[in-house]
Amino acid sequence: MFRISRLNIPGMVEKNFYSARFISNVPMYDELKKFQHAMMNNCLHVFTREAHKELGPIFKLPIMNLVFIADPSMSSDLLGTSGERYPKTFIPESWEIHAREYGVKRGLIFLAGEEWWEQRSRLNPLMLKSAAITKMNPSIEKEASELLKRLDGDSSQIQKDVYRSVTKILLELFIGTSKDFPLDQAIERVIIDNSGLFRGTTQLMFNPQEHFERKSPEWMMFIGHVDGILATLKQGIRASYKEKLEHGVAAELFKLGTSLEDVEKIVCDFLLGGVDTTTTSIMWVLHELGQNPDVQERIRAELKTVCGDNPCSGDVLESIPLMKGLFRETSRLYPAVPFLSRIISKNVKVGEHILPPGTNVMVSNSAMAFNSTNFPNPSVNKPERWIRDNDMPKDLKNDMAASVRPFGHGVRMCVGRRVAENSLLVLVSNIVQNYQVSAEKAEYATKMIGVPKDKIKISIKPL
Ligand code: HEM
Repeated sequence: MFRISRLNIPGMVEKNFYSARFISNVPMYDELKKFQHAMMNNCLHVFTREAHKELGPIFKLPIMNLVFIADPSMSSDLLGTSGERYPKTFIPESWEIHAREYGVKRGLIFLAGEEWWEQRSRLNPLMLKSAAITKMNPSIEKEASELLKRLDGDSSQIQKDVYRSVTKILLELFIGTSKDFPLDQAIERVIIDNSGLFRGTTQLMFNPQEHFERKSPEWMMFIGHVDGILATLKQGIRASYKEKLEHGVAAELFKLGTSLEDVEKIVCDFLLGGVDTTTTSIMWVLHELGQNPDVQERIRAELKTVCGDNPCSGDVLESIPLMKGLFRETSRLYPAVPFLSRIISKNVKVGEHILPPGTNVMVSNSAMAFNSTNFPNPSVNKPERWIRDNDMPKDLKNDMAASVRPFGHGVRMCVGRRVAENSLLVLVSNIVQNYQVSAEKAEYATKMIGVPKDKIKISIKPL
């Protein structure tokens, strides 16, 4: 899910120069200054879009063994069945240093090889199967109604309100509620530490090892937030364990014999992977509703037909294709995860190219999303592009699907996908059923995730 962090360029240039050259039939982009500028200015998506235009669907950099691809079928080769059995993804180097130097054990995001698969195969049925999600829906629906009460016609704090709802849904689903772990207090602490941690990771993107060695203020702030979030979750999970709670993913994991320590690290990584991505995605969908009043009207009409006067619930989500199309279309234009990554450990064939072990590959979501052959008028948000159309050529359908993968693809795809989708669709639908949403145009930036450059300005008016 996460992007490049090894930007300690001088050392890396020499160490990693060989491999990108080794893939001799892949064009080289050698204006490194432009790449560095894009990294520092949060516009890597623009850099890759332009570089792909110049060099085609695949190119390499002379540093970091880095290869970018922007072709749906190459992306499927990399992420799908011809990729690896235990694929590995990038994580920010600051997180790696923290885990290594402080001996902190971590969950799925950090794991590789058989250890990763052992944990992942235990979690898939608990997180992705329909039966598990049906059990989770009541918590999501309850929080949608709480969110409406909190909003009460006032959008000045809407991003905070949504952040709070997402955090609450995830804490309740993963840990459950216990008398020794009052959720409302925990939420405030998780919000402070989670946002601090993401801010810190961005600050430590360059030379994190050096920050660690001199214990810079940025490093100290970063580890304070990591330790804070771990401590809060530990408290909740231990309470769930002690009280032998029946509900929550943690309780299910205990039943399967997972150790207390493993459950702690799994849940911590769920929150790291889930809170900011889901909140940001919701904010972009609200932005798109506000920017496209005609789409908003049509979605409201769809919800009226399907739900009548009832609040949208988890069990109607298969019957609201326009709303689902809006989420897909918004993920195309403003992906919460701007690049999918793989670190290759064996030769992998993508298109005509064999990428050798040690290659770091990034799939450029934004470059594929603006391909006007697959998406005519690519900058227009058209949710109906995603509504099943049997007359559409199969190749086009496949290319469209492979160009927009908000949750990644293959065995390493997002484990929280169903929770995230259901939370987003239910929360946003409830807002649309009650409010007219307007939004000022916001600009997209690539930081740790795909965020608005400045805060998204949303206003809501009761219907
Ligand atoms: C709209 C919200 C979300 C988006 C866009 C998103 C996106 C992604 C993406 C793109 C990946 C990498 C997939 C790949 O490399 O193929 C990923 C991995 C992951 N996500 Fe999400 N995610 C979201 C919500 C969540 C939630 C709610 C959770 C909580 C359970 C979560 C937990 C994780 C974890 C633990 C991983 C690592 C999985 C592994 O390595 O096996 N995500 N996510």
